[in-house]
Amino acid sequence: MNSSPLGVFDSGLGGLSVVRALWDVLPGESVVYFGDTGRFPYGTRSPDVIRKFSRQAASFLMAQNCKAVVVACNTASAHALDDLSEWLDVPVLGVVEPGVAAALAVRGEGRIGLLATAGTVASGAYNRALSAKAPSLKLTSVSAPLFVSLVEEGWVDTPATRLIAEEYLKPFSRAAHDVVILGCTHFPLLHAVLGDILGDNISLVDGSQATAQATLALLGAEGLLSENSNPKHRFFVSDAPQKFATLGRLFLGKDVGLPERISIDEY
Ligand code: DGL
Repeated sequence: MNSSPLGVFDSGLGGLSVVRALWDVLPGESVVYFGDTGRFPYGTRSPDVIRKFSRQAASFLMAQNCKAVVVACNTASAHALDDLSEWLDVPVLGVVEPGVAAALAVRGEGRIGLLATAGTVASGAYNRALSAKAPSLKLTSVSAPLFVSLVEEGWVDTPATRLIAEEYLKPFSRAAHDVVILGCTHFPLLHAVLGDILGDNISLVDGSQATAQATLALLGAEGLLSENSNPKHRFFVSDAPQKFATLGRLFLGKDVGLPERISIDEY
């Protein structure tokens, strides 16, 4: 039993989709969330910069006395997870491996697809995670950067969103895919539109649920679980706290008030 909070960070607000899943699976855990909204997006940045930003986010979470860190950002998981795992003294978990495991669990005979940011696709992290578990399987990766902006705009189901989605999803409909991994924290919000276009024969795997389950397993194994009946959640951003209020509701399904703005350069 360890009642210290669980630290979660993302390039912005998309990681709140992971927080929502964590609340479901680990209702007794307090969460400290940091969204690097002032430096969003990470998906178009170089690996070195993403590693630097990720270390700063993790230092901030360590300053809040977090007992473990969930990297709730696919781009940061893809480029910085190994570095953080070596650098930090607490357990660290990313979203890539849980996403791949979840895809393999629902896969039939077909291929596996990945929708992610350009940075995540270029990192090859999903390919590596897949070959470690199923060496013969090939991944069809599509980078879909416009989805991030559409979600940031709150356009989760507009005609424009559907048109863009139809274009991005073409490679999955053409070949025999039966699972597509939503490899970006923003994409679960587009689940309804993507599911409509892909049809019933292709399952969409949302890495956030799988990450929450993996966090439960990790905390259990490390003896770090908390069963607090009144957990406290705190939210921090590096800029634009007001935007959190609007978009945060979309991701969390409820209002959590204004986050505190911090100066991430101090970490
Ligand atoms: N959290 C990021 C990800 O999952 C969202 C997009 C970005 O920062 O570019 O990749």
